[in-house]
Amino acid sequence: MTLDELFDAARGAMAKSHSPYSKFPVGAAILTEDGSVFAGANMEVISFPEGWCAETSALAHYVMAGGGRITDICVTASRMDECTPCGGCRQRLAEFAPPDARIHLTDQAGITKTITMAELLPLGFETEVLSS
Ligand code: THU
Repeated sequence: MTLDELFDAARGAMAKSHSPYSKFPVGAAILTEDGSVFAGANMEVISFPEGWCAETSALAHYVMAGGGRITDICVTASRMDECTPCGGCRQRLAEFAPPDARIHLTDQAGITKTITMAELLPLGFETEVLSS
């Protein structure tokens, strides 16, 4: 799996976005160390707050397939270059992606910027208290 193919997976997911209200399709693709890819798109609902983001769809596929070590995540949006995950999705991604996972941002031609999970969500909420 090349990064170009990961971008293609995010683009392919974006094509399946259900975003009639914002008209802002987004696609996300998660790559794990064994080469598996889990993609998803944003899904909107006429009761607006009930919709969810592309990254959340991709994470659901990842979890349902049994997870694995996340190495790369690509996010793309046709109407915005270098669309970054929203605040809620940063926390959701950080739940499963290690701090050194690479987050790839794109324009319509491909990946243009790469940062780490730790850079995407500095000072993220983490505590031992909730799991003890
Ligand atoms: N959206 C995502 O899917 N991911 C993001 O990280 C940013 C926003 C979606 C949510 C909504 O369907 C549309 O983009 C406009 O906010």
